[in-house]
Amino acid sequence: MTGSGFGPDSGPTSGAAVRSAPAPVEVLGLRLKSPVVVGSGLLTDQERNIRRLLEDGAGAVVTKTIHPDPGPSGDERLLRLPTGMLNSTTYSRRSVDDWCAMLRRFADDGLPVIASVHADSPAALADLAERVTAAGSGALELGISCLNEDEGGLEDTPERVAAYTRAVRRRTPVPFSVKLAIGERVRERIDAAMASGADAITLSDTIAGLAVDADTGEVRLGGAFGYSGPGIKPLVLAEIFGLRRDGLTVPVMASGGVKDAADVAEYLSVGAEAVQVYTALHRNMHATLRGIRQDFDDWLASHGGTVADLVGRSIKRP
Ligand SMILES: Cc1cc2nc3c(=O)[nH]c(=O)nc-3n(C[C@H](O)[C@H](O)[C@H](O)COP(=O)(O)O)c2cc1C
Repeated sequence: MTGSGFGPDSGPTSGAAVRSAPAPVEVLGLRLKSPVVVGSGLLTDQERNIRRLLEDGAGAVVTKTIHPDPGPSGDERLLRLPTGMLNSTTYSRRSVDDWCAMLRRFADDGLPVIASVHADSPAALADLAERVTAAGSGALELGISCLNEDEGGLEDTPERVAAYTRAVRRRTPVPFSVKLAIGERVRERIDAAMASGADAITLSDTIAGLAVDADTGEVRLGGAFGYSGPGIKPLVLAEIFGLRRDGLTVPVMASGGVKDAADVAEYLSVGAEAVQVYTALHRNMHATLRGIRQDFDDWLASHGGTVADLVGRSIKRP
């Protein structure tokens, strides 16, 4: 990695000289200090974590998905795999009232927190969106594609996506992203979300994965559940690359397998405007996030460019 500018061989490494470069980006109407956003999950279910992740340099943090009726707390587990993680978790167990109070404190402090929301019906999600908006949330993410609810069997259709999106759009003026999983009819699902009033797309939620005990044949965790981490990165990259190459112009927040600054640069290069990181933070959460953020800023500064220069550069090349 030599010289300046975003040439074909340039990419961030963790050994870059320590420099600080602000890299403002705009996502969902929020002006972020960095395109590195912490995605929704167990780690973002607590006020203390969210505040500290922002202090670590996250451009924004997405809350654990808030649900008005998360159901009985079942057997929610994590299973580490060599290439990532399987998890059978679903929604936050905190009440909507608790979340609204927390979101109010974030808003009062001017913190870039994106409220992730879902519910059992479009009408219930619209009610929830209205409540978190009234609590001061400046941006939302609709976490409507959690496959764990149906043990890997969620059948997401453009019609379902449209129904949830349309219901929310009618009840809140704040910008929101619809989080989808890669897979069948993804372009149609994206088009349905945007036509129904979404401001951006988050791609991807976890993908159905299965682990089997080779000795006993037992299906671990008891079924197919959400697979995340480095193993899904090439799949999500390929999807975003293909969508952009086919002319998709809507704002995209990438999510899938980010573990270092190079991964952030890769997602921006194929056309994501911001990049979420989640599973990697299950190891040394604060140090890992600080490292990704700082390495990315250093690399950007050493090239004298901006985030906007990076976005979509892989597509523009012949
Ligand atoms: C333990 C765990 C819990 C998660 N919980 C949520 C959630 O509540 N809502 C949501 O939208 N995504 C959830 N996700 C998905 C992540 O936000 C992210 O989209 C996905 O894991 C892919 O990114 P990653 O490989 O960087 O983790 C969860 C992922 C994991 C591993």
